[in-house]
Amino acid sequence: MTNLLIIAIDGPAASGKGTLARRLAEHYGLPHLDTGLTYRAVGYALLQSGLPLDREELAEIVAENLDLGSLDREILSAHEVGEAASKIAVMSTVRKILVEQQRKFAAQGEGAVLDGRDIGTVVCPQATVKLYITASPETRARRRHREVDEKSGGSSYEQILADIIKRDERDMGRADSPLKPATDAHLIDTSEMSIETAFETALRFVEAAISEQ
Ligand code: C5P
Repeated sequence: MTNLLIIAIDGPAASGKGTLARRLAEHYGLPHLDTGLTYRAVGYALLQSGLPLDREELAEIVAENLDLGSLDREILSAHEVGEAASKIAVMSTVRKILVEQQRKFAAQGEGAVLDGRDIGTVVCPQATVKLYITASPETRARRRHREVDEKSGGSSYEQILADIIKRDERDMGRADSPLKPATDAHLIDTSEMSIETAFETALRFVEAAISEQ
C-alpha cells in the first residue's frame, strides 16, 4: 500500500489551503475532500431546521446521516454557516463520526487530498505528505473581505478580522483535535506569496515525499 498518495493539508480559515488542495488534487488526478464542508453541512442542517447548535445529541444524528456526495459548496460557504460549523466542531462525538467518514474517503482508490484542521494530526496521521498552510490574520481577513465583497458586497473588514481571530481561538483552543501543525508537517506561510508561488512550494514538498516513498 506504499503507493497510496495521501496529501494532508491543514491551516486556519482563509489561509489558502482550499485553493492549494484543489490545485494539488487536479495535478495528481486525485479526489479531494474539503473536510470543513462536512462540519459546515452539520451546522447548516441544524440552522435550517431551527435547531440549537449546542445540543450534541442532535448534531450527532445529523452527522450520522451526512452524505459526502451531496455537499454543496455554494450553499455551505456562507459566513454564518462557518461560524455554526466551528461551534459544533468542538463536540467529540460529532468529530468521531465525521472523522470516520473522512478516513473512508482517504482510503479509496489511489489516494486523496484532504484539507481541514486536523488531517495531519488525527484523520490521516500516516499521510504521504503533510502541509500546514498559514498567513497572518490581517492577510486572511483581507482575502475573505475581497471574496465576500465580490459576491454580495457590504461586508466590513474589521468585522471579518474579528471573526477570523475568534474562529482561530475556538479552533486552536478546543480540547479535541485543536488546530496545530503535525510535528512532521511542512509549514507554508502564504502571507507574502502569490497562489502560483504557494502551489510551486507545495508541489516541491509533495514531490520530495513521493520520491522518498
Ligand atoms: O475550513 P472551514 O472554514 O470550512 O471550516 C469550518 C469550521 O469547521 C472550522 O472553523 C472548524 O471549526 C471546523 N473544522 C474542523 N476540522 C476540520 C475542518 C473544519 O474542526 N477538519
